[in-house]
Amino acid sequence: MEALEPTSGPAPPTPFFVIDVDILDRFVDRFQRALRAHWPNSILSYSMKTNSLPWLITRMRQHGVWAEVVSDTEYELAQKLGYAEDEIVYNGPLKSRELLRQALGDGSIVNLDAQREVDWSVELAQDHPELEIRVGLRVNWDLAARCQDEHGDGDDGSRFGFNTANGDLDEVISRLREVGVVIAGLHLHRTSRTQSLDVYRAAATVAAELVEEHELSLDWIDIGGGFFGGDDASPSFDDYIAAIRATLDDVVDTEATQLIVEPGGSLIAVPVEFHASVVDVKEIDGRTIVVTDASRTNIDPLFRRQRVLDVRLESASNQTHPEQIISGFTCMEDDRITKLHNRAELEPEDRLVFGKVGAYTMCFQPLFIEYLPAVYARQGDSLSLVRRKWGIDDFLQGNYWNEDDVHARIVGPAESTSQATHHSSAVLTGRR
Ligand SMILES: Cc1ncc(COP(=O)(O)O)c(C=O)c1O
Repeated sequence: MEALEPTSGPAPPTPFFVIDVDILDRFVDRFQRALRAHWPNSILSYSMKTNSLPWLITRMRQHGVWAEVVSDTEYELAQKLGYAEDEIVYNGPLKSRELLRQALGDGSIVNLDAQREVDWSVELAQDHPELEIRVGLRVNWDLAARCQDEHGDGDDGSRFGFNTANGDLDEVISRLREVGVVIAGLHLHRTSRTQSLDVYRAAATVAAELVEEHELSLDWIDIGGGFFGGDDASPSFDDYIAAIRATLDDVVDTEATQLIVEPGGSLIAVPVEFHASVVDVKEIDGRTIVVTDASRTNIDPLFRRQRVLDVRLESASNQTHPEQIISGFTCMEDDRITKLHNRAELEPEDRLVFGKVGAYTMCFQPLFIEYLPAVYARQGDSLSLVRRKWGIDDFLQGNYWNEDDVHARIVGPAESTSQATHHSSAVLTGRR
């Protein structure tokens, strides 16, 4: 689908997201330059789950960025949006047998995450001894033991991949080698608390140890995502890749082994804004509640953010207010977005712009009360609509609610008559 013609007139009605194209391009370029400087033989692969807006995926592809996907659905979306199979990194525990076989045959980078995927790879090798099957393995390694206080997965450790300590990884490597499957890659992504360089040094060290222990000759080392990424970010993309390279330099031949990175938030969080308007202002027990047409479901869908969001106000008022509670439109009491202190006094119709909200927002958006807001891409002063606001017809797609059929469900199937009714009844009840 084409974006609508860019317009540079008055701001569109709220609420809507805006992607700043120049900032996005700058971030992508910055990551690409860091890779070129420190590990030229590398792949920048965007974590599609972080924000899978079709316009954005297309922009990434146009920049030569690969797609990192974690399910069959994401894999198919990447294909639908123009990605060739050999520009896709296929991760995650939700692969199907069919797509795993297909992806291995079609040249995708595949990192196995679960025993059943190992079984399917072994089976494929046995079915097709003429093929050389090359797989990566997601490594379940102990981040807490290597980097104190960096553990971002809660107290229970990571649940992904094959564990190094309990023998699972060794067993999988032997099993695959026995049938001639090549261990071509390692995948080391870990979620960490502070995104420090030490986490990436630790991941690279695990890779180096495994390369030596198992005498691996790897096509790729996939370090995952999780990078920090502000405009003046420290560490910078450059710092991360330099640290990874320094850790692996003595152990792998960087001309033969590609470094794969899978950034999500560090590329897309900063370039995106959410624009909202004040709907109402009310005083209750000495508190000032500012009701907006935004919701936490738009910009903090997991209700996790503690910090004050980056908020710009477009208000004509020259009065400030000591404390305004910025609230969402939903009927959840805790749909309170942030508190503003000593900022312009807001009135209905004033606008608020929440910054740095591109990661894990649009893709986590519930269809709660209101549907998906519009999204614009901004270049200079002009805005192009890249997703229209969802309306009732978008919400209704894929539903079946034939009047007679809904009635038949209440009074029993004997009273339902037409073929069409029987068909949609089966759909409703899940019967085949
Ligand atoms: C395997 C994998 N790669 C990449 C990412 C992207 O992480 P981020 O958005 O923090 O860069 C994630 C996020 O959880 C992930 O699980």
